[in-house]
Amino acid sequence: MTVPFWVAGKPVTGKATAVIRHSFDGSEAGAHHLPGPSDVDAAVQAAADVADEFAALPAHVRAGALDHVSRRLSERSAEIARLITAESGKPVKWSRGEVDRAVSTFRWAAEEARRFSGELQRLDTDPGGTGRLALVRRVPRGPVLAITPFNFPLNLVAHKVAPAIAVGAPIVLKPAPSTPLTALLLGEILAETALPAGSWSILPLGNEETAELVADPRLPVVSFTGSVPVGWAIRDRVPRKHVALELGGNGAVLVCPDWTDLDFAAQRIATFAMYQAGQSCISVQRVYLHTDVYDEVQEKVLAQVAALRTGNPREEEVDVGPLINERAATRVESWVSEAVSAGATLLTGGGRTGSTVQPTVLADAPEDASVLADEVFGPVVSLIRVSSVDDGVARINASRFGLQTGVFTRDLRTAFDLSARLKVGGVLVGDVPSFRADQMPYGGVKDSGIGREGPAAAMADFTEERVTVLTGLTL
Ligand code: SIN
Repeated sequence: MTVPFWVAGKPVTGKATAVIRHSFDGSEAGAHHLPGPSDVDAAVQAAADVADEFAALPAHVRAGALDHVSRRLSERSAEIARLITAESGKPVKWSRGEVDRAVSTFRWAAEEARRFSGELQRLDTDPGGTGRLALVRRVPRGPVLAITPFNFPLNLVAHKVAPAIAVGAPIVLKPAPSTPLTALLLGEILAETALPAGSWSILPLGNEETAELVADPRLPVVSFTGSVPVGWAIRDRVPRKHVALELGGNGAVLVCPDWTDLDFAAQRIATFAMYQAGQSCISVQRVYLHTDVYDEVQEKVLAQVAALRTGNPREEEVDVGPLINERAATRVESWVSEAVSAGATLLTGGGRTGSTVQPTVLADAPEDASVLADEVFGPVVSLIRVSSVDDGVARINASRFGLQTGVFTRDLRTAFDLSARLKVGGVLVGDVPSFRADQMPYGGVKDSGIGREGPAAAMADFTEERVTVLTGLTL
């Protein structure tokens, strides 16, 4: 079946269609209709037309719709997980986890929508403000253009759609061309709600056709998750728009000499270096190990990596599946070879079959090798010996990225010190950087982006303050 795209909440079929293929074996994952220019214009105009009505919709209607989506995702979770695996190659156990997370993202957005009230500020702090009170509320900046990546075809869509609905901002979603099917299925669920026509559209467009949408003045907010060059190019192209960017990372871990549970650290490092074949912005890529623990952790990480099962992502026991396509796998393979030529030691892995890259562990890679300096987005982790905690902090901060960092320390003062000194959006104490609870603010500094996701943070991002000053009051 060839599924429709969605314009102003209605399913639409077009003349052209696209087939989505499974990255593991090239089998057909599904097919969808492709929007043409008039569909795109209709979606954007409908978003602009409904903006005032949507912003004024009572909170219980928006929250009720979000609760409905959360519930229906949960009811259809097995089917949706299979679809995520089919179109992205993500091992089905991780796909199930992604659906669970999206259930929670929509549920949180519903809860936030109910308490999104604004605040009071007293103004009688100077004589001129006597008898005055300010009501500070947040109103939508306007319709949102959301551009989402392939690595979380549902939950990173949820992180844009749910907060937009929560604040009453119409949203035009452009999912990744390689993984649009899950987003289009989400359209089926959104269509079951009473949200006004025009408040949401889902357009599976190619990346090239997106430039016009980015420039369209009817979409004053652009929320982008994806690659670093594309993200910053968007911001440079529309400096007067409100642009939120969730870009890449080269997730680091620092294991301090006081950390005693080295089995746990090694298990977390191996799992989250290789989960989703490393295709997460917060997968573990750089592991800075204090020299006191280096040898033991290296041995344990290698044992944990050896225990991971690589193969067909549809199988329950498989831990590591393919990359999104063979081009990505070839690039990762070449980065590993370059690192080895530059002096790194290949401890395990390095091979490739089609779009699947073997889980790979390197040691002694030079800091300017792509496997350390850039975002690998593949199942490759580098271990680096450091002489002190300060040495580790300096090397982590030398990166052009700053998304999340994990620090293994048992000392509360060290934890606070590192959380103050690490130049990242989030510090995970006693864990790897890959932990993300969907309600928490998530985003980076430096090349990793600007703005934060998580329902409450994105709701703040999609809105601006409006002050109403009341006069002549007894306070
Ligand atoms: C990302 O790749 O940035 C998202 C990671 C996550 O949501 O776990």
